[in-house]
Amino acid sequence: MNEDPLQAYGELATGVREILLPADLIRQRVQALADDISRDYAGLNPLLVGVLKGVLIFMADLLRAISIPAEVDFMAVSSYSAQSRDQGLVRLEKDLETPLAGRHVLFVEDVIDTGLTLNYLLRTLRARQPASLEVCVLFDKPQRRLVEIPLRYTGFDLPPRFVVGYGLDYRERYRSLPFVGLLDPEVFQ
Ligand code: IMP
Ligand code: MG
Repeated sequence: MNEDPLQAYGELATGVREILLPADLIRQRVQALADDISRDYAGLNPLLVGVLKGVLIFMADLLRAISIPAEVDFMAVSSYSAQSRDQGLVRLEKDLETPLAGRHVLFVEDVIDTGLTLNYLLRTLRARQPASLEVCVLFDKPQRRLVEIPLRYTGFDLPPRFVVGYGLDYRERYRSLPFVGLLDPEVFQ
């Protein structure tokens, strides 16, 4: 008998100490968010915008769960340095391909921590004069917030801890895990 659900993931879960959000709970919540979005944006052909790479799993699942026509586009950013990151300064490595003017834009984020990165990106997108600009975040860490960001849709509130899985990585590992988990402290060393 094997009672440890982590064992089922073998090598993929090495270093994970505990499952915080099991896969079926995430699936249900993503469907509920998609239902709300499908209702609120009916007839508006929303554009879902994501930042690579952490949002890839959430975006794919959310998009497939939305029951109205919707478009998707991505951007990529990098930090100049740890210090500039702390000020929310990021470099746009890949911009969106879609013009935003007059569009109903829904910014889809995997996780919001301090909110500094997202705050910067929202200002950039707002300057392009979309018809509307809202935020949908799957994992929110409200206790860590340094700048206030209005969130239209929130999946889960998380404690101020580093988590992995469902797209979130530690040094490019753990993205493919279907659940969200906490790492062993030794992994950080
Ligand atoms: P912030 O909101 O500007 O502090 O930065 C959020 C970004 O930091 C996210 O887009 C992630 O890339 C990363 N991040 C924050 N918390 C976590 C976590 O718990 N696991 C993995 N990445 C995280
Ligand atoms: Mg991200």
